[in-house]
Amino acid sequence: MFKKIAGTKDILPEEVGLWQQIEGVSRRIFSLYNFKEIRTPIIEEKNLFFRSLGDTTEIVQKQMFEICHGEDHYCLRPEATASVVRAYLENNLDKQIGFIKLFYIGPMFRAERPQKGRLRQFHHIGVEAIGSLEPEIDIEIICLANSLLKAYGIDGFRLEINSLGCFEDKKKFVEVLREKLKPSLSELCSECQIRYQRNILRILDCKQDSCKQLLKDIPAGTDFLCSFCKTHFQTVISGLKAQQIPYFLSKFLVRGLDYYNRTVFEFKHPDLGPQQDALGAGGRYDSLVKQLGGEETGAVGFALGIERLLLVLNKKNWIPQKIPLVYLICLGENARKHGINLLAKLRENGITADTDFEHRSLKGALRKANDFSARYVLILGDDELKTNTITLKDMRDGNQQKVLLSEIVQVIKRLFDSENNNKTKD
Ligand code: HAM
Repeated sequence: MFKKIAGTKDILPEEVGLWQQIEGVSRRIFSLYNFKEIRTPIIEEKNLFFRSLGDTTEIVQKQMFEICHGEDHYCLRPEATASVVRAYLENNLDKQIGFIKLFYIGPMFRAERPQKGRLRQFHHIGVEAIGSLEPEIDIEIICLANSLLKAYGIDGFRLEINSLGCFEDKKKFVEVLREKLKPSLSELCSECQIRYQRNILRILDCKQDSCKQLLKDIPAGTDFLCSFCKTHFQTVISGLKAQQIPYFLSKFLVRGLDYYNRTVFEFKHPDLGPQQDALGAGGRYDSLVKQLGGEETGAVGFALGIERLLLVLNKKNWIPQKIPLVYLICLGENARKHGINLLAKLRENGITADTDFEHRSLKGALRKANDFSARYVLILGDDELKTNTITLKDMRDGNQQKVLLSEIVQVIKRLFDSENNNKTKD
């Protein structure tokens, strides 16, 4: 028997309802903030990510699912920010619209070592606001992420925030780090010794205790911000205060992708464990549009990992929506022929209806109806056909009555309408 690839998941029908609800809540909140949906391909040119994320980043170095097709090199998207910026430029949205607020929901792929909260195929709910450098949009984006988490009913999360400054500030800070860490280079973990050469900022978020110890007294990157970036960050922080969004300044938060500058943030949750505790993360990437062929323009966004949301959300708050089902049981060949038309009529009238496709006995078919939690069962046999009637069974109280076949659809509609009216009164 074939098995799914490690780090991928089948989302079975009983779980899909929850996914749809999360997506529904997200779409509702996105619309409140006037974000519009974008759908980009899951397969892209490999170079798009080399150029955007940086060729020394962990994702590009180790985690790309690559596809070679003749001379062409593609990959499954490891994230969507680069794809959205590509689509923004390729479709001339920069020239036609300029500033734009976009959201996306979809699968991402990273060749990671699978473990709890770390998959090879996972799903992002993400946003990108492209075309503004203003700190107010950073505030809007962070408020949006906060609203989403609250709307899912998640609490106990923690917002960490930092500023990496502009690329000049980043360079200055890299030099400071290089000097500070040089004497203790041999005490860093082997991974960080490589990071020291290739991507020194990543040392700051190393999870190894020995490295953490060495970094304890390292200065904060925000001490090296130019005046523009300092004011920008202060405005973001004031905005969060004004919105009463709790935050923690973290000098160790640097994010793993090269495109980030200025504001960076992560929403963490203790229930995810210490290794991958981020529910979602994001920040500014003010050079990416230019890097991918557009004009220099500000941009900021974030992505939440749906699988990680599912690990922490209180499933008790999520009641699966039940659509009442009418289950038709046809006894005999003749009844089955009539049954096909009746099913079609029920559905045309907006009633969810199904039937027994296995030709079970009445007892077996009733059991199946019970398994489906059918609200009503319709029984059509030779006796009923002779009198142009059908038996209507209420599965809550077990009562049954004969109804004229020509009237059954209207009768069921009336029953559902009165149940709905009672529900709204409650
Ligand atoms: P990221 O931090 O790489 O950022 O991913 C965002 C979130 O996706 C993480 O916080 C986590 O919840 C989830 N995630 C990442 N990798 C995995 C995995 N292997 N398995 C399960 N969940 C995972 C980005 O991708 C940026 N594009 C976010 C962004 C948008 N920045 C600006 N705009």
